[in-house]
Amino acid sequence: MKLSGLVERISGEGAEAWDIHITAQRAANAGEDVIVLSVGDPDFPTPAPIIDCAVQALQSGDTHYASVPGRDKLRDTIAADFQSRTGVSTARKNVYVFAGTQNALFSTSLILLDHGDEVIALEPMYVSYEACLQIGGAKLVPVAQPADNGFRPDIDLIKAAITERTKAIVITTPNNPTGVVMTRDELTSIASLAIEHDLWVISDEVYTDVIFEGEHISIAALPDMAKRTVTVNSLSKSHAMTGWRSGWCIAPTSLAQHYDNLALCMLYGLPGFIQEASIHALTDQRDASLAMRDIYQRRRDLVCSELAKARDLPVLKPQAAMYVMVDIRHYFDNGNEFSRALYNATGVSVLDAGAFGKSAYGWVRISFTLSDEKLTEACRRIVQFVGTLS
Ligand SMILES: Cc1ncc(COP(=O)(O)O)c(C=O)c1O
Repeated sequence: MKLSGLVERISGEGAEAWDIHITAQRAANAGEDVIVLSVGDPDFPTPAPIIDCAVQALQSGDTHYASVPGRDKLRDTIAADFQSRTGVSTARKNVYVFAGTQNALFSTSLILLDHGDEVIALEPMYVSYEACLQIGGAKLVPVAQPADNGFRPDIDLIKAAITERTKAIVITTPNNPTGVVMTRDELTSIASLAIEHDLWVISDEVYTDVIFEGEHISIAALPDMAKRTVTVNSLSKSHAMTGWRSGWCIAPTSLAQHYDNLALCMLYGLPGFIQEASIHALTDQRDASLAMRDIYQRRRDLVCSELAKARDLPVLKPQAAMYVMVDIRHYFDNGNEFSRALYNATGVSVLDAGAFGKSAYGWVRISFTLSDEKLTEACRRIVQFVGTLS
């Protein structure tokens, strides 16, 4: 039986990279001695008051259809938060609530991008971008953020990739997997290109609250950019709420109004109890989020200093997020081979960073979403493993 063309468009590369992760997760669930460093899910529990808030809402009968764009109070809270961080005048009508950054990006892609359009995304990029951005028939044009340049954006490469068909540029700051936080100069150069070529910018800022060094700047805050920028974000990483699926878009009114019809047929609103818990997270749980950030920073330092004990294994110290990038090219051609050999020898699973784009071929991504003890042990095994390689 024939299926739709969409099936092709969403079957991206990189599936192989997840094989080791899936194997390791199964082994971990079965109680085997494995250490899973291949996933970006915070190990912290969601702060208890946020859970209490959801439970109270459920018990008080908040179990029916909820407002599709998001409850007024939640949209107001998100708008006020964004405005206070960026200085961009943001109102309820600019905010649309979705099921995580992923769903916000997916929806934005459907609203903005058509068959025949090209969308530039800077790689290494989050693995689901490929399918998400091509879902409506647009062509993804990956632009390298070269490893030699510390995985920072190369403005000339972006410029060279712009054609008459380019409709949008997607940026991720801070970046997954590299932890790079874009500087004001980098963002200003990207903004100038967007203005010159009349492009939309989609800015994924899901790691905004997990920054250790560098200042987070939203590209929407640069002159003349708010009217052409969609910012996507969520509570997944900031509040250890990946499973709640609470996220949003912030967009100019001209665009935000069009989310309505899409959301009506696609999602029909986030559950009310999740919206109530999200309001509480944003208004009263900033300290909990900051405390998690501090722990991530400590873990980052721990992993970097432990891995420095390995021979010929350069590590890129991340400015943000929850991953360390490790260059394994001295030993293997690609990250997948390294990950497989490492897992088979030690039970430590890491992710082939090549799954995030060509620039990261020969690198692996190590998540620091486990306790200090587990991370120390994982690093010990990695160092020992590398010591056995010639
Ligand atoms: C860069 C990036 N964007 C989006 C997502 C998806 O986040 P959410 O849980 O908000 O859908 C992730 C998750 O790891 C990510 O790393």
